[in-house]
Amino acid sequence: MIILFANQKGGVGKSTLSVLFSNYLTLAKNKAVKVYDMDFQRSLYNKAQAAEVIENTPLYPVEAAELSQFNAIQKKANKNENQVSIIDLAGKMDDDELVPVFQKSDLILCPFSYDEYSVSSTIEFSFVIKKINPNAKIIFIPNRLRSSVKYETMKSVQDALKNFGAVTSSITERIDFQRITTYDIPSNIIEVIEPVFESIYNEYIDPAWHKMITCV
Ligand SMILES: Nc1ncnc2c1ncn2[C@@H]1O[C@H](COP(=O)(O)OP(=O)(O)OP(=O)(O)O)[C@@H](O)[C@H]1O
Ligand SMILES: [Mg+2]
Repeated sequence: MIILFANQKGGVGKSTLSVLFSNYLTLAKNKAVKVYDMDFQRSLYNKAQAAEVIENTPLYPVEAAELSQFNAIQKKANKNENQVSIIDLAGKMDDDELVPVFQKSDLILCPFSYDEYSVSSTIEFSFVIKKINPNAKIIFIPNRLRSSVKYETMKSVQDALKNFGAVTSSITERIDFQRITTYDIPSNIIEVIEPVFESIYNEYIDPAWHKMITCV
């Protein structure tokens, strides 16, 4: 199974949630995970490398990969059905090599925030994805919600996004997200991410597993 973290909007939490979701799948769900950092900035790969210096055993391998390697990655993923492959994409869409990535991945997790620019950019992104792959399964994750702000447009934004996919409950803005690592989930952010990850797991990942097992 291949899961993408993608949105053309920068800074919405793609890399952060890739790490936390990978930690969650390994630590809370005992799943085998492999992470591919396809962002040329290599922030996730560098984080994993730094962690290996201090920690002994990584929870999962993190590879730096190019978009052109996607077909090979997909072949590997098909052979290893018990593993979840997580791909962290860069926030840019001007690359033809993204086409097979959006066509052949199983799930697209799309973090966004409720501010105006993030929403319009996210809708534009979703529109392109659906053009490339009308069957793409997109799950929108509202991120960085500030408790002091009243989001007047929340309902209308959700309605707009529901034309393209599902919208999860929100992840709040917390300073602790700045300190995440590839080897644990800080206890004070578990409560923030668990409801979101749990719903994605139960609805989209666990049933896919049962289907695979019963097909054998
Ligand atoms: N819920 C949150 N609360 C507080 N800070 C957050 C939260 N989610 C993400 N951040 C912070 O926002 C910044 C951007 O996050 P991140 O790098 O994951 O975004 P990105 O979508 O991968 O960006 P890019 O498009 O540049 O790859 C980081 O400093 C991260 O720590
Ligand atoms: Mg990133």
